[in-house]
Amino acid sequence: VTPSDTLAQLCRALAEHDFRGASPLYETLALGLADDPDVLSLLSPAAPRDRMPHLLLAAVQYLLVRDGVGMLEAFAAQPYLSFRSFCLEHRSELEHLTATRVNQTNEVGRCAALAPALGVVGRLAGQPLALVEVGPSAGLNLMFDRYRYDFGLGAQAGPTDSVVVVRPRLVGPLTPPSVLPDVAWRVGLDRKPVDVRDDDAVAWLRACIWPEQQWRRELFDQAVATARLEPPRLMTGDAVANLADVIESVPGDTPLCVFHTAVIGYLPDARRFAETLADAASQRPIWWLPGEPAGFVPELTSSATFAPAGIVFRFGVVPLGMEAGWSPRTLAHTGSHGAWLEWMDPDTAG
Ligand SMILES: C[S@@+](CC[C@H](N)C(=O)[O-])C[C@H]1O[C@@H](n2cnc3c(N)ncnc32)[C@H](O)[C@@H]1O
Repeated sequence: VTPSDTLAQLCRALAEHDFRGASPLYETLALGLADDPDVLSLLSPAAPRDRMPHLLLAAVQYLLVRDGVGMLEAFAAQPYLSFRSFCLEHRSELEHLTATRVNQTNEVGRCAALAPALGVVGRLAGQPLALVEVGPSAGLNLMFDRYRYDFGLGAQAGPTDSVVVVRPRLVGPLTPPSVLPDVAWRVGLDRKPVDVRDDDAVAWLRACIWPEQQWRRELFDQAVATARLEPPRLMTGDAVANLADVIESVPGDTPLCVFHTAVIGYLPDARRFAETLADAASQRPIWWLPGEPAGFVPELTSSATFAPAGIVFRFGVVPLGMEAGWSPRTLAHTGSHGAWLEWMDPDTAG
């Protein structure tokens, strides 16, 4: 199997599992790319673990938007052929981008499950929390308590005057709890943190949003504007190598919650990350709150009853280093970007 065979397989898998139903343009482009080693070779400058079709699609969207053209509009007629010509005409710019950027998002929609799940942790801990977010990107989700939540069926949370409104489609019989936690301390740890004040870095993150998903772009723009008023504290470092140092800097008398969304799949060794957390929990208890594709965290089981196309994310709380009596619980399932939400835990439902 050559690297270009592997990329071709990845393109087909993405088209079928990620893009279908969510981005018809990317579905078409990914299927075309699967049979086009010439265009796929534009990804060769990327480091092997970052060599993903999304990276090339984001680079193309970034160049188009920079020149004031929307991607849907640019490739409306004969999508794959016009995309291919654009790629070949912009070969050197695209190769520069794939060499220097990585596919990176910051998906505020994931706060739909994250915020009420943090509320549950706050209630269990019974005190204001210290939060460490691993892989926060620009840190927009560390600011979850600046946003308003409208879960439907009258269930609301967060400040009522916020311009950022997270509005997932609620499925299933339960509503999420409406209490957000008090936060005493917070920090993010990312291998490539993004400064919300850096226009070009923000334009790149925006270009990683799929072209049809205007709701994601709106939420992103509003959250960036809010974060610019008071940017989050982010540290540069690795989820495994530097987590213990970050945890050591957390005030000792505050219950600690370590959370992450859409990060585990990017780590070279997810098991080592879980071991690092368990080691840290031997020094101080940790409420571990992962929001990752279902199946990534073996401690969290139970299936979504709603089974749409696409990847399902599972949010839950895993108490580490606590006294007996606590056990892991699945709290919610969502679509990969938080478009829909199913609250799973009757004990904590609103
Ligand atoms: C898909 S993005 C998700 C960002 C954010 N958590 C969200 O849900 O919108 C993955 C993030 O993990 C970060 N990341 C990947 N590998 C990492 C590592 N080894 N250590 C720290 N952060 C990492 C990336 O830089 C990126 O910001």
